[in-house]
Amino acid sequence: MIIAIDGPAGAGKSTVARIIAQKLGFLYIDTGAMYRALTLKALERKINAKDIPALIEMARSTNIDLTNNQDSSLKILLDGRDVSSPIRQPCITRLVSDIAKLKGVREIMLGLQRKFGKLRDSVLDGRDIGTVVFPDADKKFYIDAEFSVRVRRRYKELKELNQDVTLKDIEKDLRNRDNIDSTREFAPLKKADDAIYIDTTSMAIGEVVNKVLSYIQ
Ligand code: CDP
Repeated sequence: MIIAIDGPAGAGKSTVARIIAQKLGFLYIDTGAMYRALTLKALERKINAKDIPALIEMARSTNIDLTNNQDSSLKILLDGRDVSSPIRQPCITRLVSDIAKLKGVREIMLGLQRKFGKLRDSVLDGRDIGTVVFPDADKKFYIDAEFSVRVRRRYKELKELNQDVTLKDIEKDLRNRDNIDSTREFAPLKKADDAIYIDTTSMAIGEVVNKVLSYIQ
């Protein structure tokens, strides 16, 4: 069984996807983490974000693997190294959408995401899961929230990770990424026609989880 959860940044999809995976005993596949891992490698190798052939070549020769911890949180391995925490740094967040918009990079990630999803029953979260990666997913959700609420949620999350950020920084980042992600040519952020839309603006995480579960069970 494949459960697809898409939506913009800060809507709470990763938290919801992880809890659903944990409750159902499914594999949690955070596809954003895969793009983040590639971005980390590009930064470490000092590959210019405009050098598209070099980025695609790098993606082709990169090994990305995923497992889940006990609490279903994601452990992501970049060429065998656990990068679960460095991929959350602001320098990665700032650049990731520019790398994720490249067709050649997406094609490589698409193959991997389908491979992971076929291993076990899975919950995948991202931007194009219901539209492109698994258009035949058993259940599709599009999780959204008002912009100001998404900003506050992301702020709280990053503060809990002890990141030195301001509300203004987050606003700028979400606006920029939402814009790139939803206007790009290949696999833009979009609700699949058959996805269930959930506006979580005034919902607590537990309520969202229950709502999603009620559609699955
Ligand atoms: O958690 P957050 O909403 O900040 O983003 P993420 O899920 O970690 O994804 C980071 C970035 O990866 C997004 O802003 C997109 O540019 C890209 N992404 C994508 O293009 N397609 C996906 N299926 C998932 C993420």
